[in-house]
Amino acid sequence: MLEQKIRAPKNRGFYVRMKLLPSKHGRSSVPQLEKKSFFYRNCKWVLWLSLSFYFFSSYLISNHPNQNNNKQPTSLSKTHFSSLASRALFESTTNNITQKQGLPFNDLKIFVYDLPAKYNTDWLKNERCSTHLFASEVAIHRALLTSEYLTVDPYEADFFFVPVYVSCNFSTVNGFPAIGHARSLIASAINLISTQHPFWDRSHGSDHVFVASHDFGSCFHTMEDVAISDGIPGFLKNSIVLQTFGVKQKHPCQEVENVVIPPYVSPESVLRTLEKSPVIGRRDIFAFFRGKMEVHPKNISGRFYSKRVRTMLWRKYNGDRRFFLQRHRFAGYQSEIVRSVFCLCPLGWAPWSPRLVESVALGCVPVIIADGIRLPFDDVVPWAEISVNVAEKDVGKLAEILEHVAATNLSAIQKNLWDPRVPRALMFNDRVHEGDATWRVLSALANKRARSYRR
Ligand SMILES: *[C@@H]1O[C@H](CO)[C@@H](O)[C@H](O)[C@H]1NC(C)=O
Ligand SMILES: *[C@@H]1O[C@H](CO)[C@@H](O)[C@H](O)[C@H]1NC(C)=O
Ligand SMILES: *[C@@H]1O[C@H](CO)[C@@H](O)[C@H](O)[C@H]1NC(C)=O
Ligand SMILES: *[C@@H]1O[C@H](CO)[C@@H](O)[C@H](O)[C@H]1NC(C)=O
Repeated sequence: MLEQKIRAPKNRGFYVRMKLLPSKHGRSSVPQLEKKSFFYRNCKWVLWLSLSFYFFSSYLISNHPNQNNNKQPTSLSKTHFSSLASRALFESTTNNITQKQGLPFNDLKIFVYDLPAKYNTDWLKNERCSTHLFASEVAIHRALLTSEYLTVDPYEADFFFVPVYVSCNFSTVNGFPAIGHARSLIASAINLISTQHPFWDRSHGSDHVFVASHDFGSCFHTMEDVAISDGIPGFLKNSIVLQTFGVKQKHPCQEVENVVIPPYVSPESVLRTLEKSPVIGRRDIFAFFRGKMEVHPKNISGRFYSKRVRTMLWRKYNGDRRFFLQRHRFAGYQSEIVRSVFCLCPLGWAPWSPRLVESVALGCVPVIIADGIRLPFDDVVPWAEISVNVAEKDVGKLAEILEHVAATNLSAIQKNLWDPRVPRALMFNDRVHEGDATWRVLSALANKRARSYRR
């Protein structure tokens, strides 16, 4: 049902919503809509859908029973928003920013460029574009467009968000995103905004924000050696990049002002799973992993998939009763995660994986096997207290390590992990919720306000 609600407006509805909502910030967008009378007739419907979806999902995600009853459009008012905000205030201990009253980031203002559809919404014709693991580029764009921090006046903006969806070009051969066109698409968008507006040139892009949500982030390639040799395109080097890739050591693909963001996991899919099996339910699988585990990984110019960690996992623990290891895709894998105590999150080509978010969201302790990984929002998400970290070289001792944790501090880890603020911080919603992933992005930007031209 949820799914239908989201799908009903389709791309067209999304477009209307984008155009309509900014008008509440003072600039009328009605003439634009009248021209598109079909859209106009559907506006109320679309708004109603987005609102009811927002309240329904905020209810489910934050488990506050009261929010669900309030579906009237009036509840969009600032009063309601700030009462939500202040309630979260009392719950929050991990983030100091919430100590401020009302809007937590003061008068932070983000301007979102209205780029031609070929840079973004055209790609949404493929439904996967807004739900696959790289879809934070879509989710952040959507959430910003309806956020309290959006400004339609670029002269009062602190930051400029450039919405280019580069991960939505799916290869017809293997179905994976083909990001070969990413550089040229972004370059073309920058060319457009810098010829139409003065803001790019005046700061050389340093207050402009991009999303690079695939394997090696701002290097735009899935193979590390190619990514490194291509490097970060010159035109992005001054800007702020929100990327899923992050390591603690120096790396050519993070030599840019960056924020490590979580991979996208659809909140609706998580909600559907949790409706059937709650986080605190029975967990009868000790250690779970489903995904690519090559028995004989290919040597691709000196590199092996997952640095052979997954191969070692398979060789050593396939057949071990404590381990539930599966090498094939299965659409219902979330129901397996929610039954598991430990969920393995080994590196793939890149260190990060969507499993990090899926495990946290479904209450399974993530077992991170990816040396040097820099985790999303590590300034506020207490990763050391909610996960188990295993060095790549220790993968052969994994069973002993996990048995030890299970016998000593598992319940402490679970207690920390099951705090609803933790999953909330790692999930993107269509509208910004206090403490969710887009909110964390805004918080990170607020901390970079020294880059704002108007200050
Ligand atoms: C929160 O802010 C106060 C000062 O406003 C500071 O003393 C304290 O250390 C901060 N706590 C954290 C967890 O950052
Ligand atoms: C999609 O990616 C492929 C391979 O990188 C490229 O040849 C093609 O032009 C891209 N499509 C578009 C519309 O950019
Ligand atoms: C992988 O291939 C490279 C050549 O591309 C070779 O130098 C290296 O020894 C190989 N590594 C292993 C472990 O086979
Ligand atoms: C659990 O114990 C392991 C060592 O067995 C330790 O590294 C880890 O920090 C502990 N985690 C918590 C949350 O106490």
